Amino acid sequence: MNYKRIFTKISHELEDLEDIGNVASYIPELGNINPNKFGVHLTTVKNSNFNFGDSNEKFSIQSISKVLSLILAFKLEDENLWNRVGVEPSGNPFNTLVLLEHNNGIPRNPLINAGALVICDILVSRLQDPKKELLEFVRNISGNPNLNYCPRIAESEKMMGYRNSALINLMKDLGNIKNHINTVLDVYFNLCSIEITCKELSRAFLFLANYGTDPITNQKILSTSKSKRINAIMQLCGFYDEAGEFSFKVGLPGKSGVGGGIVAIHPGKYCIAVWSPKLNSKGNSYKGMKFLELFTTKTKSSIF
Ligand code: DON
Repeated sequence: MNYKRIFTKISHELEDLEDIGNVASYIPELGNINPNKFGVHLTTVKNSNFNFGDSNEKFSIQSISKVLSLILAFKLEDENLWNRVGVEPSGNPFNTLVLLEHNNGIPRNPLINAGALVICDILVSRLQDPKKELLEFVRNISGNPNLNYCPRIAESEKMMGYRNSALINLMKDLGNIKNHINTVLDVYFNLCSIEITCKELSRAFLFLANYGTDPITNQKILSTSKSKRINAIMQLCGFYDEAGEFSFKVGLPGKSGVGGGIVAIHPGKYCIAVWSPKLNSKGNSYKGMKFLELFTTKTKSSIF
């Protein structure tokens, strides 16, 4: 399939659409991004590559990296992981405190902030140098040994991290955080600050389109069963209180971040990454979602 031609066609169609989203400004550093950036990159499991726009420009992947930390923790903990965090959609915004007290400090899923903080706590318990080992893991699967955290963005978020502090304090009190809260928050803020291009992002998540094996290097990153479970969690929880809308309109497992990125997977076919910084009211890329909706419609490639 000539995906490049389809990308060009969709972008023309979207030119007339007013982008009513807003760049995330609660992390001051993210507010400095050019709101009109737009990039897309698709990698097939046969390693064919198709791109459009600013696909080779680095951006902050924010919550998309919660999937990467989850994968690492799942590899380390196996099924024990689910004693500390659930697999149910939250139906609430990404930074919600609402259900946490009710559920005795067990987050609904690992992709909301509370769940991602528990995952970071597990990594702090399990790894000698969690920030270093996490970065090595992401460098390995993205094929870019120079990929890094962005200290400016991590610091900017730390300064404004009142919500995440509230979440972690509540969970510490309820017994679901084992380490010092500042150590865990430091891993979390750095995790969110990872900068990566659409091309690298679609490469990093490609093994999830190939049942856990990187189709380019043949490296087994996750078992088939674990890989399918990660996709199931993304399908149900990857877009917070808009997960239903994404399933309904796009029909792929995926994950968004407040940097404006979205990564989505078609098992057996491809991984696609889109970046457009303006967000809708639920914190997901406005144009990125529209683009993917048109893409799976035109290519008839939703998983349903
Ligand atoms: O915890 C935060 O607020 C951010 N570092 C991550 C939020 C995010 O990307 C939510 N996504 N859509």
